[in-house]
Amino acid sequence: MKKISILFVCLGNICRSPAAEAIFIDLVNKKGLIDKFIIDSAGTGGWHIGKLADKRMRIAAERRGINILSRARQIHTKDFEKFDYILAMDNSNFKNINDFKKRESLSNFASIKKIQDFRSLFKEQEVPDPYFGGDEGFDYVLDILGDSVCGFLESIS
Ligand code: 4NP
Repeated sequence: MKKISILFVCLGNICRSPAAEAIFIDLVNKKGLIDKFIIDSAGTGGWHIGKLADKRMRIAAERRGINILSRARQIHTKDFEKFDYILAMDNSNFKNINDFKKRESLSNFASIKKIQDFRSLFKEQEVPDPYFGGDEGFDYVLDILGDSVCGFLESIS
């Protein structure tokens, strides 16, 4: 059976989207569904290409038993063909992804959505960028994503 492919996207691909990717991997692993998915993340910007996720995010996730292993990469044209879903962390990412698609005249294959459209417990319509803030911001992003990533899985199940 064809796997469902999901790409989580933020700005730098070192805080929010690698966390969303790792949380989703953890979730589907626990449900015995990992073989049904291709899961990845990327950034709209390219400043951190090749880097591990921000240490503050990796430590916050590790405290919850979640390992963030991915290396940063930038979104590219092939992602729009490869992935069934491209999930943006905030409105700016969402706009940048759609602008990129328009600029490159890409086909309409991937369904581009905002991850917070799948939230149920939290009111935030965007995942806040924790990069320039304190450590508590990373925990809050993990809380928000735990909720919305679960909602996304339910929406496609
Ligand atoms: P992210 O956070 O988009 O969640 O990975 C950021 C990481 C780095 C920068 C901005 C946001 N930066 O400006 O370098």
